[in-house]
Amino acid sequence: MKIKQYLSERVQAAMVAAGIPAEHGPHVALSNKPQFGDYQANGVLGAAKALKTNPRELATKVLAELDLADIAEKTEIAGPGFINIFLSKEWLVQQAQASFQDPRLGVAKAEQVQTCVVDYSSPNLAKEMHVGHLRSSIIGDAIVRALEFQGHKVIRQNHMGDWGTQFGMLIAHLEDTMAGGSIDGTALADLETFYREAKKRFDDEEAFATKARDYVVKLQGGDERCTELWQQFIEISVQHSEEVYDKLNVTLEREHIKPESAYNEQLPKVIASLQDQGLAVEDQGAQVVFLEEMADKEGNPMPVIVQKSGGGYLYATTDLAAIQYRSQELDADRCLYFIDARQSLHMQQVFTIGKKAGFATDKVSLEHHPFGTMMGEDGKPFKTRAGGTVKLAELLEESVSRATELLSKRETDLTAEQQAEVARKVGIGAVKFADLSKNRTSDYIFNWKTMLSFEGATAPYLQYAYTRVQSIFDKAGIQASDLENNVQVIEEQEKALLTKLAQFEDTLETVTREAYPHMLCAYLYEVASGFMSFYEACPILKDDVDSVTKNSRLVIAYNAQQTLKTGLELLGIETMDKM
Ligand code: ARG
Repeated sequence: MKIKQYLSERVQAAMVAAGIPAEHGPHVALSNKPQFGDYQANGVLGAAKALKTNPRELATKVLAELDLADIAEKTEIAGPGFINIFLSKEWLVQQAQASFQDPRLGVAKAEQVQTCVVDYSSPNLAKEMHVGHLRSSIIGDAIVRALEFQGHKVIRQNHMGDWGTQFGMLIAHLEDTMAGGSIDGTALADLETFYREAKKRFDDEEAFATKARDYVVKLQGGDERCTELWQQFIEISVQHSEEVYDKLNVTLEREHIKPESAYNEQLPKVIASLQDQGLAVEDQGAQVVFLEEMADKEGNPMPVIVQKSGGGYLYATTDLAAIQYRSQELDADRCLYFIDARQSLHMQQVFTIGKKAGFATDKVSLEHHPFGTMMGEDGKPFKTRAGGTVKLAELLEESVSRATELLSKRETDLTAEQQAEVARKVGIGAVKFADLSKNRTSDYIFNWKTMLSFEGATAPYLQYAYTRVQSIFDKAGIQASDLENNVQVIEEQEKALLTKLAQFEDTLETVTREAYPHMLCAYLYEVASGFMSFYEACPILKDDVDSVTKNSRLVIAYNAQQTLKTGLELLGIETMDKM
């Protein structure tokens, strides 16, 4: 249940009943100290200030109108006029029982279903996916999964970069490596090397460079031979990406690819429309939109080129066409873009033009959710020892082999095959969790040691907590379906864990609203550590535990386990019964 929303409505109603105008919000937030209860409503303070009355007196009036008997065991006034709210055990028990055997864990589906178009991963196909693509792929995928879980309509858009002048050089080189008219698979096995070779020839060989330029023109003109070569190159590059998505457990499929080239036909219309509306004007042969909205300090409007002097289109032009397609044809309520923070200015420009030109509908919310860079230990962008870009596929392989090493130190009765499967889930999970758990807006330092540890907020720790619950059930020879849906709260740790579990829906609300997977990571870590403290304080399988208590604690443990599983699934991280 949405606790914050529920409390907010109730406090707001009490405030109105106490004579406070409705424009003063209740400001309900989680309390930061247990002695202040579970939630605090701070809105009375601001209202008292505006109404020039004594805040404590006003809070007393509000409290007199506030009936939270169904959810809270205590409400009190604290400090200058805060209202502290303590959730009741009875209510927590109700929530726990409602979650048990509910695959949605008590999380309701969105009342207002939104169409969310999510642009993520979107690699350039000229090269292989490298670590720079990790963040967009996994942050975007986590948000997509969470939105879908909430019941929103999600449309994934993999805006792959499959167009541009590099492709002239690539297909010219591809043609030269072909034997007997068909593609030599090995030449493209390593796209990075292939790109480097093509680039070197382009720089060194006059004739090759000429041919490459000629192929760009031909490709743009729809030449059959060039188009065919380009398609073959793209196909192989897409397959490379798909392998990475598979490894990464990212839900992007073929049908989600809407590459840059898909907008080619739209581009002249975009320019024509901008010209018709007087937004694009000619400047030194190019078509330029001047944005007063984004003027510099001297008041000079910011120029954004939408068509080059030779007639060529730009990255921005394609994004304008994409805004139009997503808002108008896909009828988006929200368009979320998961793109590196270094493209913030670009996004701001296209959003501004998109709105101004009416490519975006009035209702659509255009949102760039930027993220920082993954850094090496030296504080510089993550590179190989030799200073090259780290291929994503190789990074993931290394993580799995490090996970194998980490797990080999544990005693296990798993077969070699099962162990390999566990290592894969731990290795991939570790890289993902380490990344997703950082506030996406900042840069972060990539560190194998901290991410592949059973201590702290890591994937292995959470996966381990999951297996811990499983082992309790295994040891008891009990399944969840054997249990009575009956919960009681005796110890503080039980209450604390149930309170945490009841906040799953609230957490998801923030996660999808702000596009912040790190909030879900932090939440799941608290669930796991809450479970550990609970398990330490509340014996389950000991002989002297009575059957009602044992049953209740097993239900609580099960709810914690299912919350971990569902939460990790939303992050695209797998769990296992044993490790
Ligand atoms: N292909 C671009 C890059 O690798 C990212 C595209 C992001 N999406 C967009 N609509 N601009 O930098």
